[in-house]
Amino acid sequence: MTPAPLSIPPALADTLARAVNVVVFTGAGVSAESGIATFRDALTGLWSRFDASALATPEAFAAQPDIVWGWYEWRRAQVDGTEPNAAHRAIAALAGHVPALTLITQNVDNLHERAGSSNVVHLHGSLHAPRCSRCARPAAFPADDAHAIAHEGRAIAPPACAHCGAPIRPGVVWFGESLPTDAWQAAQAAAEQCDLFLCIGTSALVYPAAQLPLHALRAGATVVQVNPAATSLDGQAHYNLRGAAAEVMPRLLEAAGF
Ligand code: APR
Repeated sequence: MTPAPLSIPPALADTLARAVNVVVFTGAGVSAESGIATFRDALTGLWSRFDASALATPEAFAAQPDIVWGWYEWRRAQVDGTEPNAAHRAIAALAGHVPALTLITQNVDNLHERAGSSNVVHLHGSLHAPRCSRCARPAAFPADDAHAIAHEGRAIAPPACAHCGAPIRPGVVWFGESLPTDAWQAAQAAAEQCDLFLCIGTSALVYPAAQLPLHALRAGATVVQVNPAATSLDGQAHYNLRGAAAEVMPRLLEAAGF
């Protein structure tokens, strides 16, 4: 028997319809329906013998740059081979229906941007912003031939920085590294000033990002979770919409009359 379509509480629909300052905070779950492996699921094939938290560190890049660069290029190839889903599109559309919307993501893919969202706050960086591991200058991706083999999942030597010759690194935040200061400050300010905080597709386990819904709660915002599974936030969120983001988000906008 197919489950009944999720119903949106009328009070929530009214809150969204009247919202002035909305924060949308996303995690890997919003990209799951585009077929993007979540952080821990990305360890298939060559990478299956690695532990993600061991690969995603400055130490791993220093010790095995080809393996680490190859893994991130493989993940970038995965992203480039997929499309934004209905959740990304609904979030992009929502920005046109409310006076102010800040989109904060923990994801390193560019699916929000490709769905039409702008000024996306990437707390954990981006697969699409490589930079020099020494002088930090933004870098260009290598020629297509290097990218062409990336989807096979192979070790690839990182290109050298055109300015100082050091290896180019992925533009993501690794374990043990700080979040980008401006992104984190913008995210905290938005969470503390919003009246509605939509928490979509995150396990809310990784700090400091997981503090953001708690900041919003303390500031008096209505906090809504969209997740097929329970998370540590369930007891504190005002609404827990138990469903897939690609199904729930279009229904949420429809219920608000958007
Ligand atoms: N719609 C909504 N949520 C979903 C969907 C879906 N279709 N599919 C899965 N989810 C939920 C899962 O139930 C889970 O709670 O998405 C969440 C994904 O949790 P994680 O895999 O822990 O991803 P995330 O919360 O983004 O992790 C935060 O931790 O792995 C590191 O740096 C990495 O940015 C990442 C951070």
